Amino acid sequence: VLDFDPFSSDVVADPYGWYEKMRTEEPVHWSDRWGVWVVARYADVRFAFHDDRLSARHNVRQMGATEGVDLGLFGRVPTLPSTDPPLHTRLRRLINRAFTPSAVEALLPRIEAAVDAMFERVAEHGEFDVVRDVAGALPIVVIGGMLGLPLADARQLKEWTDALMVAFEGGRASTEQQAAASEAASLLADYFRDALKGRSAGTADLLERLMAAAEGDDALSNDEIVTTSILLLIAGNETTTGLMANGTQTLLDHPVELERLFADPTLVPLAVDEMLRFVGPVQMVLRTARQDIGLSGTTIPAGDGVALMIASANRDEEQFPAASNFRIDRSPNDHLAFGLARHFCLGAPLARLEVQIAMTTMLEKFTRIESAEDSAPVWGGSLQARRVTGVRCVVTRR
Ligand code: HEM
Repeated sequence: VLDFDPFSSDVVADPYGWYEKMRTEEPVHWSDRWGVWVVARYADVRFAFHDDRLSARHNVRQMGATEGVDLGLFGRVPTLPSTDPPLHTRLRRLINRAFTPSAVEALLPRIEAAVDAMFERVAEHGEFDVVRDVAGALPIVVIGGMLGLPLADARQLKEWTDALMVAFEGGRASTEQQAAASEAASLLADYFRDALKGRSAGTADLLERLMAAAEGDDALSNDEIVTTSILLLIAGNETTTGLMANGTQTLLDHPVELERLFADPTLVPLAVDEMLRFVGPVQMVLRTARQDIGLSGTTIPAGDGVALMIASANRDEEQFPAASNFRIDRSPNDHLAFGLARHFCLGAPLARLEVQIAMTTMLEKFTRIESAEDSAPVWGGSLQARRVTGVRCVVTRR
């Protein structure tokens, strides 16, 4: 009965009313318009993440993807998000050997230096845009640095990844945008092939560590390292920008919470997780039922697509007391913003670290942060990566 259109810009602008209706009226429902089952409650989404009867493979059109884009190698060689065991197990084990907690921790000084420089550059003006000046630029600099790529390439890599994102944002893409996405996919693959040529297995950077990662006599092929690298750029870029932007906007919208954070910056880690729950950029993930599955009294038949609405689950009153209130010190906070189980976000520790450092630095540099007078938030992107397009702030330097 609900006529939910995940690709309409009105829904992307404010999906939360829809989610509430779903949870109370039709927690598991078939969407004719979309062609998938939509799962809205926390308990069901959580259960589904752990259920092996669901496959991660799905029809790209259900994701809103554009079939007019030729993803080249990136489309041909399977990567983590679209694979099931045993291939997923193999890839994830090998990649985990390279993308380790200590490799992420080692980035701390680099992230601090980058964030500090970005805020320094804008601090003097007293007014800036968090997206344009910090959140939009930081993730690519960090992941590019982690991969061992020259800082000078960051801008180009960002352009290609942004162009490629169009392939996943669907129907609205023009023919020119689709052509640009295809070209970006091909240029990115060439770029990483070249980057590998000059390297050998080692420990100096993530590319070297991906080359070195082995289990017995198994290792990643060159093509797999290339597609994994492209995946890391795509998966970690818009999403982390989105969390930083959405989180800052939410603080500006909740001045009492912002004051509490100024008063006690040790709350930043909890606050970042509350941002993930409250305005996480990835609102849904897609699966396909391999067998019939019963959820909340409804049977999803084998072969059908399933959308797990994690952003709806994260506002479920059954799980989160006063779920529609943003509370920087919410604890416990078992949100699903990074997914769960075997596909749990590989980059979660990195995303948390980046946004925690950005928030802490902002609180240290300024004594006051407010929305610029004539700025009203505009929400864009897609339900795969939803974020405010800009966050203009007025600040007072400490
Ligand atoms: C706030 C930022 C981020 C959010 C909200 C986010 C969210 C997610 C979610 C929900 C999934 C699960 C997808 C599924 O179950 O189908 C996922 C998977 C993944 N994420 Fe993230 N992500 C973020 C940042 C990053 C970063 C920084 C990286 C890498 C540098 C990254 C790399 C990945 C990869 C490789 C996967 C696939 C894992 C697998 O299938 O085994 N993500 N992410």
